[in-house]
Parts: sequence; C-alpha cells; structure tokens
Amino acid sequence: MSADQTAPDETAPDPVQGGPAWWTSAIVYQIYPRSFADSDGDGVGDLGGIIGKLDYLAELGVDVLWLSPVYQSPHYDNGYDISDYRQIDPVFGTLEQFSDLLAGAHHRGMKLVMDLVVNHTSHEHEWFKEASSSVTSPKRDWYWWREPREGFDAGAPGAEPTNWGAAFSGPAWTLDPHTGQYYLHLFAAQQPDLNWENPEVRSAIYDMMNWWLDLGVDGFRMDVINYISKDPTLPDGVVPPGGLWGDGGPHFISGPRIHDYLQEMHREVFTGRSADLITVGEMPGATVKEALLFTDPVRRELDMIFQFEHVELDYGPGGKWDYRGLNLADLKTSWTRWQHGLATTGWNSLYLNNHDQPRLVSRFGDDAGLRYESATLWATLLHLHRGTPYIYQGEELGMTNVPFASIEDFSDLESVNYFAEATTVLGMDPEEVLASIRIMSRDNARTPVQWSGEAHAGFTTGEPWLSVNPNYLSINAEADRVAEKSIYSHYQRLIRLRHESAAVRLGEFTLLEADHPTLYAFTRSHDGETLTVVGNVSGEKLALPNGLGHGECLLGNYRDAGAGKSDPGWLRPWEARVLSTSPAVHEFV
Ligand code: GLC
Repeated sequence: MSADQTAPDETAPDPVQGGPAWWTSAIVYQIYPRSFADSDGDGVGDLGGIIGKLDYLAELGVDVLWLSPVYQSPHYDNGYDISDYRQIDPVFGTLEQFSDLLAGAHHRGMKLVMDLVVNHTSHEHEWFKEASSSVTSPKRDWYWWREPREGFDAGAPGAEPTNWGAAFSGPAWTLDPHTGQYYLHLFAAQQPDLNWENPEVRSAIYDMMNWWLDLGVDGFRMDVINYISKDPTLPDGVVPPGGLWGDGGPHFISGPRIHDYLQEMHREVFTGRSADLITVGEMPGATVKEALLFTDPVRRELDMIFQFEHVELDYGPGGKWDYRGLNLADLKTSWTRWQHGLATTGWNSLYLNNHDQPRLVSRFGDDAGLRYESATLWATLLHLHRGTPYIYQGEELGMTNVPFASIEDFSDLESVNYFAEATTVLGMDPEEVLASIRIMSRDNARTPVQWSGEAHAGFTTGEPWLSVNPNYLSINAEADRVAEKSIYSHYQRLIRLRHESAAVRLGEFTLLEADHPTLYAFTRSHDGETLTVVGNVSGEKLALPNGLGHGECLLGNYRDAGAGKSDPGWLRPWEARVLSTSPAVHEFV
C-alpha cells in the first residue's frame, strides 16, 4: 500500500447498531438565523422566516439543519453570548414557533441541531450576575476569577492575572470593579468563561442539554468545545514576535480534562438516547491525533469535529489578518493527512464556509467571470471527500464577499475590535487594515441571504440589520434556480450522489498527482467501485496527465461533461468531474 492510500474499512461504525452510522451519508445545512429570512419586517431574520423556507431546504436535499444560536442574548456576538439557555430570543420568535419549526423540519425528513455555546455565557446571564455580585457568592466559582498579578494594583497596565490575549482583541481578563478581581474571557469581555472544573456547572449544562433533547431536537453543534478544560494553574503564554499578548492556547486547547468532560457529557446526556442524534464539536487547533480520540465511537465522546487546519493555510505569519492566498499543495497535504488519519476510526466534518469564514468563491475561486465554475469546482472537491459535508446558507447560490466601503460598514465585533487595536495600539495604516478586514471579515458571510432581485434581496420588508450585498440583483436564489448554470442544482446533484453512492460515503481515499500545481485529483474506492475525481483549480485550461480523464462521467460542472462531448484529455477553467470506472453506475449529470 502506498503512503497515499488508506486501509479499506467500513469506518465510523454506529456503536449501537453495528454498520456505518447514518451521518456518513448525511449533508448538514447551517442557518445563521439573523441573516436567513425575516418574516416580521424588523430587519432581522427569524424562526418564521426559516419555517417559510423549509421547502427550499428540503428540495435542496439536505438531511440536517444546524441553527446558529437562537437563545436569549444581548447579541454582542450575535447570539454566541447566551443570557438564557432555555428561552428563544424575542428577536427570533417564541418557543412555540420553535416547536413548529422542529415539527416542520421533521415532517420533511430533516433533523434539527442546536448550537451549544457552553465554553462561556453572556455577562448578562443570571449565573454571571449572581457570580459577580460578591466574592462569597455561591456561584462565584462558576466562572474564572483571579486577583490582579502580584505587585500590581487592580486596573493598572499589566495587572491582568495572565498575559493571555482574547480572541476578539485586548486581554483575556476584565476587571470587575465591584469585587476588585478579574474574570477570564477567551472571547469578548461580554463572554465570561464558565469554570468546568466545578461539577455544578457541568450538571447545569447537562440538564439544559437534556431539556432540549426532550423537546425533540436532534443534537448539538458544540461551540469551541475543546476550550472548556483549562490548566487551572493558568500559566502565562508565549508572546509572538510583534504581538501584544501571550498565547494562552497551549493551556486551554484540548486541555487536561477535556476527554473526561466529554465522556461525562455522553453518559449524562446521550446514553440511552436514540442513535439518530448527532454531535459535532467545533475544535480550533485540534490535531488529527486528537480528532481520533474525540471521535472514536468506542470512546463515546463526539460523532465528528470541525477542525481548522485547512481554513488557516492562507494565513501569513501574522495570522488571520495577514492573508497570503492559498497554495494548493498545502491544501492537498492537509486534507490528505486528515483523510488518512481518520480512515479507519473516527469521522470528520467537511466545510469551506460557515458564519466565521469569508465566502469560499471569493477566497478560493473566481467570484467574477467564472463564479459558477469555481463555486461548483470547490463544492465538488469538498463533497467527494470522506466525511460529513456542511453547506453554509448562500453557499449553494455562490454568494460572494462584500465590497465594504469603510469600517463603519462592519458589524462583527472581531473585525471592529481588531481595526481599533491595529490602528491605535499597533499603529498600523488604517487603509491596510481595512484591506485585510475586507478579505477575511466574518461579515462577508453574514449579509442577508439573497432570495430575489426585490428590495433587500427579498430578505426583509424592513431595513436589514446588515446591508445586503449589492450584487443581489444578479446573484439570488430566484435567478440561480432557473439559470442554465445553477449552483443550487449542482449542490442537489452532489447531495444525491452521496446519498446513493457507497464509494462517496465510505470509499478509501487516494491522492493522485500530489505535486501538480493546479490539479486536485483523487480516487475513492469501495467494494469494487472506484470513483476518480479531477478538478482544475485554476482559470487556465489544463492537460490531464496519465489518462486521468477517462471513465464515465457521473457528475461535472460543465454541461456537456456527461454527454461525452468533453475532451477526456483536458479540463477547462475550474472544471471538475467525477468519473466512474466501475460497470453499474447511475447517470447524474
Ligand atoms: C465560535 C463561533 C463564533 C463565536 C465564537 C465565540 O468560534 O463559531 O462565531 O464568535 O465561537 O462563541
């Protein structure tokens, strides 16, 4: 067996029923409720809006809907700062409407997964209000409190208990003037970190999870779940060259008790429940080795994870805002390593887009002249890997990044805080900072879904909370669905292919032409069936080496690809083809 091959295996066995788990054939669709569809004209998407689009989602063919947070929240981080885990925020609707949504999804054969944000709460959560009321509060220890650094007065520069920076700029500690101690927040100051060392915290969270499962939800996407276990001694981190803050990551990423906590959660919440549920852990910084531990079914932790390696390959040495562009060779190496690493045990998620990432067609493709071709090329490559594909709202329409004019156009606290810190403390040129925010800001993914060419893209009858991308007149669902080159239809075909093909679900992955600079090619083999996937990751015509283009075309992104008119020796700009070399195949094109 060559280094590029994986051992054949029916992986990801369902620990309860034996054979491969149901989610090996599933496709998940992520909804960011604020920006999906607004039913009441207040400019913010809501549950009523989602209910109105359930047929659209069912027609697409997806199996699972993941809802970004709809819980009560002051919305400093658009709902990732929860102030009541058991209430729907009034801006989104009511619990009754939520039940209607759940029933509507189930009626159409789709599952509904909730976002679970339990590394931190909102600073407006009752737990935090109680905890911060006094150092002797019974809930004080539900969060991380520390005295100022020895020798420093509270509030003085450098008095933070550790030198850690927060993910959204500034220090990871904020002083509570009332009690004179600092609290830890790995994200914004409005998102205090829960202290999972405290068994009462864990049990309150498990109760809440059980409450939602009893209501009928089908599982959880767990926000930064590999951050919940911190080294309780909280050591200082290393300050990178030119950086302001220490990197606390080594002391909280997949920390000392993470596996204990997840196994405990499994016992307290999932044991004895249906195998039809799904759990996915968002895990920045997770390695293949760790992923194996998190998702090996016999360990009873999680079904799959979101890892970040492939969406950080275009970062420069300065990180996210130091964008360098993607080198295809790096992506091949990374994805191949993950495919091999989880080939016989464990499972991965497949994604290029979500609410935290810029739009894939702008980042990795050509969002102008060859938008359809490049969007569908990336979709094809992604969906043909082994793992569970995730589609982020608007991705199926080829929505693009946004031409933000000035910093005032941004809403996301990560972008806004970074701009402030970079242009003041770091003394950087505002135009330069703005240029990098335009490329990488999360707001690129958060403008309203473009449903039609009507006012505000048919998203709302009011004023949208974040302006619609001005290209909505040509890029919208209505136009795409009747277009000859429909991105939505391409996704439908990819979804059908996964549903029908065991090779797509379970096939052994082998990378081909590892050193080719613009060709991404691989095979998936299972039970005598082999699929060959070839993709031209460039806007230039590409000559296929070694007879790679031969075989029956099951699916392609150029219309004539399946009718035998294309030249098997060449790929056109951004062309992708899925070829079968086995006898009995379906015609998908
Ligand atoms: C996760 C979410 C992101 C959020 C952060 C803090 O990374 O995906 O949107 O801002 O956690 O909750």
